[in-house]
Amino acid sequence: MRYQRPRGTNDILPDDTPLWNRVEETFRTLCKHYGYHEIRTPIFEDTDLFTRSMGEHTDVVSKEMYTFTDRGGRLITLKPEGTAPVVRAYVENNLAAQGGVSKLYYITPIFRYERPQAGRYRQAHQLGVEAIGSQHPALDAEVIALAMHFYREMGITRLSLVLNSVGCPVCRPVYRERLREFAKPFVHELCDACQTRFDLNPLRMLDCKRERCRTLLHDAPDIIESLCEECRTHFDALRAYLDALQIPYVVDKHLVRGFDYYTKTAFEIVSDALGAQNALGGGGRYDGLVEEIGGPPTPGIGFALGIERAIIVLKELGLAQAKRETVDVFVAALGEDATLPALQLLQALREAGMSAEMDYQRRSLKGQMKLADRLGSRITLMLGEEELAQGVVTLRDMVTKEQRFVPVDDVVPQVIRALQPEHA
Ligand code: HAM
Repeated sequence: MRYQRPRGTNDILPDDTPLWNRVEETFRTLCKHYGYHEIRTPIFEDTDLFTRSMGEHTDVVSKEMYTFTDRGGRLITLKPEGTAPVVRAYVENNLAAQGGVSKLYYITPIFRYERPQAGRYRQAHQLGVEAIGSQHPALDAEVIALAMHFYREMGITRLSLVLNSVGCPVCRPVYRERLREFAKPFVHELCDACQTRFDLNPLRMLDCKRERCRTLLHDAPDIIESLCEECRTHFDALRAYLDALQIPYVVDKHLVRGFDYYTKTAFEIVSDALGAQNALGGGGRYDGLVEEIGGPPTPGIGFALGIERAIIVLKELGLAQAKRETVDVFVAALGEDATLPALQLLQALREAGMSAEMDYQRRSLKGQMKLADRLGSRITLMLGEEELAQGVVTLRDMVTKEQRFVPVDDVVPQVIRALQPEHA
């Protein structure tokens, strides 16, 4: 084949788009119920935005970004995630001036140069929310409740919520040192990546997927025990809220998430219906990010859920059947002379709010009736020589198989009537 889609990308074909739309519509509806408003940011941003906010030593920034110099010599990156762009837009457009908490949601493609495998792509899609302007742990609970509600609404049950706190600039440096002290005796036994992490970003060692590193770090000091008073109170309050809302979770002291902007709450939603890439979604607090990006000190929290991964699980659980899209009316035209009146009829039906289709391949009547069946049309209108001569159309109910002549001028109202539920 001459051209193929780039490695790690997917074509989402018409058989799959109804399911994608169901996922997106479910998310939009829930966001509305929770008071979140949609925001759309550009596909690309200045590279520096991501480097600064996510951290230059993170996997995404150091190895996975789609970065290029544009014709004006600017360093540009295709967005590898949605949080930094939303926070940039929040600051640049002074959304803080609207007062209160800015509750924003987005549906966006993301780009990461990762090694493709099931559930991991170079262009993936996320559903996300960002709530900016409050450090109240009740907001953490709301954000997590929304993510869990989404999966429940979709019928996805084989999942668990994993929770941790990664501390703040007060307590994290202390923990970082404790972790270094712990790992120092065996640092040379860790994988190359973890040896680098030991120097630059030791918390990320906890996230290593290599068996050897996991074993060595199994008894690493507990970050929860190192939290400062404020972070601990926040974490306890969040846990109490989740308990009260009956949202089950497990605390995993090794959950650190991949980006530097996180503070306090970190969470992931994982499913064993996924393979090695078992995270359906994740998020957390980023109380220093707005300031990092140039705004006033402003706390925030959010999450992003992978659409492809949600769809893999829906298929795995047998929940992927989307309702077949059908047409209301099929217009069968017999002979060239009938083409124009058929086209006019088609237009009138569509303008009256119905879905209508006809044949453009000069099929026989039999062929057209087959097509009408395949499209699932409820009504077929036939226009042949006889009908043209008499100024009528044959209206056939595809369910009852009854058919009758209808005057051309009266076709649209009669079709509307025939499509009423009592005729179904
Ligand atoms: P993340 O954990 O990097 O967080 O991504 C969130 C979700 O996006 C993942 O759990 C996964 O489902 C999906 N995802 C990410 N990369 C890929 C990929 N290459 N292929 C398929 N799916 C993928 C963030 O992006 C943060 N911005 C989340 C956040 C929002 N934190 C605070 N606010």
